[in-house]
Order: sequence, then C-alpha cells, then structure tokens
Amino acid sequence: MTLVNRPRRLRANGAIRSLVRETVLHVDDFVYPLFVVEGENLKNEISSMPGNYHYSVDQLEQEIQEISELGIKAVLLFGLPEHKDHCASQAYHEQGIVQKAIKKIKEINPELLVITDVCMCQYTDHGHCGIVENNYVVNDASAQVIAKIALSHAKAGADIVAPSDMMDGRIAAIRDILDNNGYTEVSIMSYSAKYASAFYGPFRAAANSAPQFGDRKTYQMDPANSDEALREIDLDLQEGADMIMVKPALAYLDIIRRAKDRFNIPLAAYNVSGEYAMLKAAAEKGYIDEKATALEMLTAIKRAGAEIIITYYAKDAVRWLRGETK
Ligand code: PBG
Repeated sequence: MTLVNRPRRLRANGAIRSLVRETVLHVDDFVYPLFVVEGENLKNEISSMPGNYHYSVDQLEQEIQEISELGIKAVLLFGLPEHKDHCASQAYHEQGIVQKAIKKIKEINPELLVITDVCMCQYTDHGHCGIVENNYVVNDASAQVIAKIALSHAKAGADIVAPSDMMDGRIAAIRDILDNNGYTEVSIMSYSAKYASAFYGPFRAAANSAPQFGDRKTYQMDPANSDEALREIDLDLQEGADMIMVKPALAYLDIIRRAKDRFNIPLAAYNVSGEYAMLKAAAEKGYIDEKATALEMLTAIKRAGAEIIITYYAKDAVRWLRGETK
C-alpha cells in the first residue's frame, strides 16, 4: 500500500509552512489598552500587569509616540478618577480623567483611534458597573448613566465608545443619545459577550475597581453558557452596535468561533489581564518561553475568528513580529 496522503509534505520547511499558513498576525489586528490617572509626572508600573503603566495625562506624549511609531492603530482608554461616589459622576465630567486624556491623545496624534471603555466601576464607591439600589445593580437607570458617559467621551473626541457594563438596552440608549447630539459618526464597540470571569483579577487591582460587596454575576454572563452569548450579540446588533466583542478570549475561543460563524460584523476579542498575567508569571519563573507562548495565544485568538485583538501584549507582539527581540 502506498501512502498517498502525507500532510507532513506541507510542513517540510519554513518556506512551505509560510506558503500554506492560514492565520498571520498583523499590527493592524491589535488594540492596546492604556490606563490614565489623575496627577502629574506619573508613570507607575502596574504590579499585577508588568510592562503596563498608569500614566498621568502630562506623561502620555512619549507613550503615544511609541505606540504610533510601532504602527498600532488604536488604544482602549481606562481612567482612574481621584474621587468615587455612588453615581459615578466623575465618569461623565467634562474635565474627567478620560475626557482630558482623549483630548491630549488627539493633540499628540489625531490619527490614532481612541476607543474608550464606558463603565462605572472605576468611578463608583461600591465598585459596581451600575447604579446600586437596595444592594442590587438596577438596569434601566444604569443604562442611562452609561449613555451619558458615552456622550461625554464622544464630546471629548473619542472615535469609538465601548460599553463594558453589561446592562440590558445600553447599546440602544447610547446610540440614541449620540445621534440626538449629532455624534452619528461615533461607533459603538459593544462588550457584547462579557463573562463574569476570574481572569479580570489583575485588571481590578490595576483599576481599583473590585466590587465592594457581592460580585458581578447578576450582569456579566455565566462562563458555563454559550447560546446566551449569541443572544447578547444579536440584541446588541439590533440595538445598533457596529462591532462586537467576546471577553475574555483564551478560555472562550469556542464563543469567538460561534460568533464569527453566525454574525457578519467586526469581531473583537479581549485578551484580558489574567491571561496576560499568567503568561508573564510563568515566563518569569522560566516555565514557558514568553514570546513563543504569547504569539501562539494571539494567533489562536485570531484563528478562532477575532479580527480585532485587544491585548496588553500589543506593543511586544509588534516588536516580535518585526523580528526584534526585547
Ligand atoms: C470594566 C472592565 C473590566 C475589564 C474591562 N473593563 C473589569 C470588570 O468587568 O470587572 C477587564 C479587563 C481585563 O481584565 O483586562 N467593567
């Protein structure tokens, strides 16, 4: 018997492997998250996310230049306010931290796309992503505040607003308020399928946004569910989302694939803080090769169907892809 099918033929050397490669990472795939804080002269490394920093607005210049020179096209902004309160008033303040940062970034490089995370948890004293009444995060009032925050980001110059709160109806509320105020061209990237994940731990330490009581399970999705993700995405599209997101990414590649197969709309995946931190920690211990593991992880996320990857590895990945070693 002769062996006709020999898949190893197509793996014989580097040239043939590149010729038949299905998924290739590109700088245009990446969005880099940035954390801005009140104060001056601050560039402090985030201990739970090595290689990422808290920047005061006056320190953004060098970072934005670096991101731009690497060819990264978009950042995702998170703000840490000085004061928190019950209703997240600093989140929609004209002189709020994110609003100031958007203006500064646009001054430095108007071409860089500014995506803003729209949520309340960094801004509320209770740390929840909405308005709390009787120890419960109420939906409709929260969606109204979320819409107000999105509008204030649009006014400051954001290109894309990305609500991460998981309230029902917030996409409709945002589209409505944006359109009524003349911001028809501002896009919405919806954190549509956002799970109640333990992988957000390092981020919550970085953003000082852990809930002070209870958890986020009454609004973020149950990690055990998959059909529900499609339903969430479907609703967001009906309400006017321009782009959708699955979050986290690595433990949810099946959700990314299902979403990709079902919907014809740009799909983002958020390679979250815990996914980043576990590679960092393992690499530090010498258990894994960081560059190889990180690029494999990012390739897998793209192969699963994400065309946009939000990752703390964005800058490193671009350097690695360019063949530079750190
Ligand atoms: C805000 C928000 C969170 C993340 C992004 N936006 C935290 C949360 O929902 O608790 C997590 C990002 C990450 O872990 O990298 N709601």
